[in-house]
Amino acid sequence: MGKKSKYLVTAALPYANNYIHIGHIAGAYLPPDIYVRLKRLNDEELVFICGSDEHGTAIEMAALTENVTPKEIIDRYHYSNKESFEKLNIKFDIYSRTSNEIHHKTAQEFFLNLFDKNLLTQKTEKQLYSEKEKRFLADRFIIGTCPVCGFEEARGDECENCGSNLSPLELINPKSKITGDIPVEKETTLFYFPFGSYQEELSKWIDSKTDWKQNVINYCKGWFKTGLRERAITRDLDWGVKVPLENQNGKVIYVWFEAPIGYISMSKELFIEKGNPDGWKDYWFDKDTKLVHFIGKDNIVFHSIMFPAMLMAHGDYILPYNVPANEFLNFSGAKFSKSKGNGILVKDIVKIFPADVIRYALAVNFPETKDSDFTWDDLQAKNNNELAAILGNFINRTVVFAKSKFDGKIPSAEIKNENDEKILESIKLSASRVNEFIDKFRFRDGITEMMNSVRAANKYFNDSEPWKLIKSDKARCGSVINTCLEICHSIAVLINPLLPDTSKAILEILNKDESDLKWNKIGRRVLKQDTILGENKILFPQIEDSLIIRLNEEYSSKTEKLVETDETNLVSIDDFRKLELKVAKIMDCERVPKSKKLLKLKLKVGDKSKQIVAGISEYYEPEKLLGKLVVIVNNLQPSKLMGIESQGMLLAAKKNGELKIVTVEGDIEEGADVN
Ligand code: MF3
Ligand code: ZN
Repeated sequence: MGKKSKYLVTAALPYANNYIHIGHIAGAYLPPDIYVRLKRLNDEELVFICGSDEHGTAIEMAALTENVTPKEIIDRYHYSNKESFEKLNIKFDIYSRTSNEIHHKTAQEFFLNLFDKNLLTQKTEKQLYSEKEKRFLADRFIIGTCPVCGFEEARGDECENCGSNLSPLELINPKSKITGDIPVEKETTLFYFPFGSYQEELSKWIDSKTDWKQNVINYCKGWFKTGLRERAITRDLDWGVKVPLENQNGKVIYVWFEAPIGYISMSKELFIEKGNPDGWKDYWFDKDTKLVHFIGKDNIVFHSIMFPAMLMAHGDYILPYNVPANEFLNFSGAKFSKSKGNGILVKDIVKIFPADVIRYALAVNFPETKDSDFTWDDLQAKNNNELAAILGNFINRTVVFAKSKFDGKIPSAEIKNENDEKILESIKLSASRVNEFIDKFRFRDGITEMMNSVRAANKYFNDSEPWKLIKSDKARCGSVINTCLEICHSIAVLINPLLPDTSKAILEILNKDESDLKWNKIGRRVLKQDTILGENKILFPQIEDSLIIRLNEEYSSKTEKLVETDETNLVSIDDFRKLELKVAKIMDCERVPKSKKLLKLKLKVGDKSKQIVAGISEYYEPEKLLGKLVVIVNNLQPSKLMGIESQGMLLAAKKNGELKIVTVEGDIEEGADVN
């Protein structure tokens, strides 16, 4: 065998101004954990790096809003998020933070390296400055009237109302978001990095990456098409890594410039902890190291364009080997979003379900090629119908059989036949396919393959009919059960990257230590005859409907969007005409299972039929609605509620806990326009 590669695996550094939610986990943290655990079972050399991203205006803003120091904010979220990862068994070699001194030093050295090579330029421009606060106001610290739509609360970087990208100087009547102070324009001088100069090299480099995920490549090509330009890499802020030059008081390095350097500084820290302070160089300076950045899609440009350009400019470091970015995980059809408060936080979900159940439910739905959806019902189904019914069942039936018919010991395998060897061989082959899939970042395929192995094991048990053999040929029966126990061991190894706790529990039942917890032991016989089995236990208890109903209620109230009417917020007639309101007839109506609020309606609108999910179940019996003529928004973007597509919206009036749907007086044909 040739020289093994070294892997330097990173997961995006989460901002320490928020609790991480399961969307983050499915995007950027669980995939690398599975990847790394599998590589370790194959004895690959690797380090796995992550930590908190602790600078940036969002953190300063959170601190100002809560009237605490930024340090208080980052401590709160850093320790909480670190614990969340631990509870999910996501095991970094180091989970550090960018506020550490070693990071500041490393980022400053990086900056100076580029400065000394004359790669940075300085430019003077006008920015908004608050005399009262004695500082420049970053984009998000400013609100004012949108020059495009007139919305009065537009942010310095974008208008939430019309979606226009703005610059703070374009706002009408800008003011400080924190103090309301009216800022003045003042000149400031910032450093710029010429990303454009690296476009050619970057684009050649990306072209050579034929095995990268298509979404990542397309994204990069989009950027090249628009053309890279120079960008300011310093900011007028207090909180951050200070610009390491004279006359730069009140200036810090832009957070997106220094944060990725965190991967380097955290590697340094890791090797200091290991007592080998130069060890990080074996990774970062060795052309054979495979540097893999796991991220969510909103981070693509920074990891596949900006940071590589910086690394090219610096020159000493390796470039990424791959940037396997995931799309987003949604929740029951809606985006996870902090402002809507509907995110399922890791710190909450780990109190409800075991880590392995969460890991499994997320992994089978990884948003690998497109956005995917998480629902509580799906988690329940995955636990009850797959983990319990397939995996738990195989382990349980084998162990129960051995306990009752073979004195709880591992029977001898003396009467082996080719079926026994075939099943072991097929699991071995399956393991090599799992390895290939995961090596190519095709986690979902890898997991399907794992579960197919367990299905095959169940089939082997059924086909061998040990319950008959025990009466006719006990020795042959012993060989079957011995083989099943060997399969249990193989499965413990096979699922280990995904389900580490379950893997451990199986080894305990087999009374086996971790000496054979190696990928190349899958499909091999490693157990000792006559070993007394440990206590059997149910690996995946059933998840009851009542719990799911409760969670659906608790979380659906958070997804409901708030609609506020504001007398001053008038719409034009053109805007109103964009809505297609129509009369529709209710043809069919039923409750959505496991939901207290939702009804599924089938409607007829002219010659079309439509399905709408409406939150009116507490107010109407389904039967009472049949045949009614109602008013719907016909051209609303379809969305999913509890996994069911809704193709419009039913109009209803609501006040003081009462709700009445809008119906049409008298007779008119469905399909009629309403305006
Ligand atoms: N904090 C960023 C986010 O959560 C990710 C930073 S990744 C790094 O989107 F490479 F810049 F550190
Ligand atoms: Zn606007």
